[in-house]
Amino acid sequence: MDDKDVLFLHDITKMQNSCSFMKMLLAAIFTILVLTLIILISILCWFFFGPRKPEFAISSASISSLNITGSSSITATLDMVLSITNFNHKTSISYNHLLSSILHGNHTVSESHLPAIHQSIRETTIVRSMQALMATNDVMVSMFKELVMNDHLVSFNMTISGVVRLNLKPLSWMLMNLTTKLLVTCDHIQFEFKNSSFALMQGPPKSCTSWIKGLFY
Ligand SMILES: *[C@@H]1O[C@H](CO)[C@@H](O)[C@H](O)[C@H]1NC(C)=O
Ligand SMILES: *[C@@H]1O[C@H](CO)[C@@H](O)[C@H](O)[C@H]1NC(C)=O
Ligand SMILES: *[C@@H]1O[C@H](CO)[C@@H](O)[C@H](O)[C@H]1NC(C)=O
Ligand SMILES: *[C@@H]1O[C@H](CO)[C@@H](O)[C@H](O)[C@H]1NC(C)=O
Ligand SMILES: *[C@@H]1O[C@H](CO)[C@@H](O)[C@H](O)[C@H]1NC(C)=O
Repeated sequence: MDDKDVLFLHDITKMQNSCSFMKMLLAAIFTILVLTLIILISILCWFFFGPRKPEFAISSASISSLNITGSSSITATLDMVLSITNFNHKTSISYNHLLSSILHGNHTVSESHLPAIHQSIRETTIVRSMQALMATNDVMVSMFKELVMNDHLVSFNMTISGVVRLNLKPLSWMLMNLTTKLLVTCDHIQFEFKNSSFALMQGPPKSCTSWIKGLFY
């Protein structure tokens, strides 16, 4: 072996060393990519399938002080007790700009803002809302028709819309806030008139359906 050959051998080992270094680097990058992907996928899965929607129910409701003012309109007071439950173990929920609307057919007979609410995990909040009911002549006529036909029963639909902020904790060290829209509907809330100015909600507490934009359940 002359000097040239020795130099050549030295070059080959150098090349082999850098080759295995490249391999290790690639393996490391690949591992990091796979881990990141797994973490991202689990966060996404948690995000979409983890948090549950809050449950709304009307515990009780009554209509009082019914007053037929003149022949063209009717006013009354609706007293309603709502129960809102956050069943989540990890997600607290804040509710803002809540607007409850009472509808008879297509007509809104009452609208009222509810207070802002904050619910920590697994908390139930009771909200009492007193709101004015007002109906014009045509709504009044259809309500009276229903009253006569259904033996003192009249029904309403309710919707509650608003903004919710979910404080999400996909991983114990990770806190994310999601601000999105809430919609609650309670169909066919039936009231029985006890006398000419007082009606009471019929049946057991009425559960409502809620949607949170971006959540699957
Ligand atoms: C009904 O409304 C009229 C007009 O607003 C009012 O004068 C009257 O006192 C009311 N009656 C009751 C029982 O609230
Ligand atoms: C509600 O509104 C729709 C269209 O806006 C109409 O076709 C329907 O007859 C209405 N229903 C009642 C009960 O007023
Ligand atoms: C409540 O809503 C349902 C459909 O969502 C409708 O069929 C029904 O007529 C409504 N009832 C009243 C009293 O508004
Ligand atoms: C999320 O909301 C909570 C309170 O609801 C707050 O303390 C926290 O700083 C918020 N986090 C972010 C990242 O906005
Ligand atoms: C209607 O019934 C309610 C509750 O039972 C009672 O408080 C109210 O005085 C009654 N009103 C009339 C006009 O009879």
